[in-house]
Amino acid sequence: AKARHFKWEISNMFWSPDCEEKVVIGINGQFPGPTIRARAGDTIHVELKNALHTEGVVIHWHGIRQIGTPWMDGTAAISQCAINPEETFTYRFVVDKPGTYFYHGHYGMQRAAGLYGSLIVDVAEGEEEPFKYDGELNLLLSDWYHESIHTQMVALSSKPLRWIGEPQSLLINGRGQFNCSMAAAHTPGATQCAAVNRQCAPVVLPVQPNKTYRLRVASTTSLASLNLAIGNHKMTVVEADGNYVDPFAADDIDIYSGDSYSVLLTTDQDPSSNYWVSVGVRGRLPKTAPALAVLNYRPNRASKLPALAPPVTPAWDDYEHSKAFTFRIRARAGTPPPPATADRRIELLNTQNRMDGRTKWSINNVSMVLPATPYLGSLKLGLKSTLAAARPAETFSRGYDVRQPPANPNTTAGDNVYVLAYNTTVDVVLQNANALAHNVSEVHPWHLHGHDFWVLGYGEGPYRGDAADEARLNLRDPPLRNTAVIFPYGWTALRFVADNPGVWAFHCHIEPHLHMGMGVVFAEAVDRVGKVPKEAVSCGATASALMNGDHL
Ligand code: C2O
Repeated sequence: AKARHFKWEISNMFWSPDCEEKVVIGINGQFPGPTIRARAGDTIHVELKNALHTEGVVIHWHGIRQIGTPWMDGTAAISQCAINPEETFTYRFVVDKPGTYFYHGHYGMQRAAGLYGSLIVDVAEGEEEPFKYDGELNLLLSDWYHESIHTQMVALSSKPLRWIGEPQSLLINGRGQFNCSMAAAHTPGATQCAAVNRQCAPVVLPVQPNKTYRLRVASTTSLASLNLAIGNHKMTVVEADGNYVDPFAADDIDIYSGDSYSVLLTTDQDPSSNYWVSVGVRGRLPKTAPALAVLNYRPNRASKLPALAPPVTPAWDDYEHSKAFTFRIRARAGTPPPPATADRRIELLNTQNRMDGRTKWSINNVSMVLPATPYLGSLKLGLKSTLAAARPAETFSRGYDVRQPPANPNTTAGDNVYVLAYNTTVDVVLQNANALAHNVSEVHPWHLHGHDFWVLGYGEGPYRGDAADEARLNLRDPPLRNTAVIFPYGWTALRFVADNPGVWAFHCHIEPHLHMGMGVVFAEAVDRVGKVPKEAVSCGATASALMNGDHL
């Protein structure tokens, strides 16, 4: 295993992700940030300088479990203090498992400002992937708003709420086209994009005919759930969130924010043509044009427009299509199975509520507000004053009607810390419900830090924990993942083992939803956390405690 060193400077810069010039957060003058490529077992060192003028920053390594290094998880106010402008912080962590990952800002809504990049971990030297391919392609998907995140954050916390709406563009590897289409000939009413500048030129994926490629796809969208299809080509899904899955064929794949996949693609179509890769919106009435990339069969020129129209995304509200895809994802043989029973079950009801005239998302009727002092430091030092004494509820009323807007729309704010004992097996049931408006229930992709979980099953309507619900759980080959979706009005059951001491965020990966309180924190065996580096938690109440001679 190797040590891999990176030196990054984070700054605001002008950029044209969709051909309209705006300000993005870039790394070393690049958007998206540089791709990190390593082998399983390597140690990554990122010496990160914050060159934003007036904001703190942190970077989260999404999907990396941070075994033994919870202070390197990069979540502001949870695992560390935000890095101040002009300061440098060095992230040091082991990438223990091969897979397709990414990294992103985890402070305020900085991810939506463009602070993200790919993190790809190959198998350790001398090991082999359980499938063969001739080449590899990488797509990092995101969405893009023309309003700054500062305007968005003000809008989201206004009374009444000013909803930010749908994104202006979808981006593939940071590139999209606003107000014009690369495939106007096939898109009624669209104008063909004129020669566009380098920053927003469509992504070209060069391939040779009759080969097999591994296409890595990850989504770091702020809001949009996505679907990806490639003209005339089938895909075979082989990896999800850094875990191998039982391979299956698909014409198109759904990708929620926080998900990553690898699919195999065989270039077995007419080699005289190029083909469109199309990415469209799912789960919300789309107001955003699909993003396009070119699958370029060499030696055709990349600029040769595909003869076929771009593949059409399934109807946004065809949930049966989405469920069929999601339910097909099973663990590959050889994946460790879940423990047969759990020690504890935590049921989390997802609702939209109001607090002092503002719109919030809450879990068991408490909306998460992050404290000034990072949880990791205050829990490790046992500082009583920084967190609420009462623990949040483990369940919600069995009588709650998930098909109706909340009878009591009011919510309160809290830190939502669940304390988990070392090595216990924990089940989490995420329950979806109706939002504030009638007949609205949205999709929420939940992401867990510090762990993979087994996705045991899904159900419709209220979870009752009875024999019928139990029968819906798959204990034989549930996939291991770090992100799982809850469908409208449904529930999703997860299981994980609390074997990684630390303080871990668990939240909806939709950036505005997290910002509006849709998350909880698992404080896991904090007494077993090793020595926390001072520079990670020298702020707020931990800073004063350290000055008074307390030891981490
Ligand atoms: Cu990718 Cu807490 O997020």
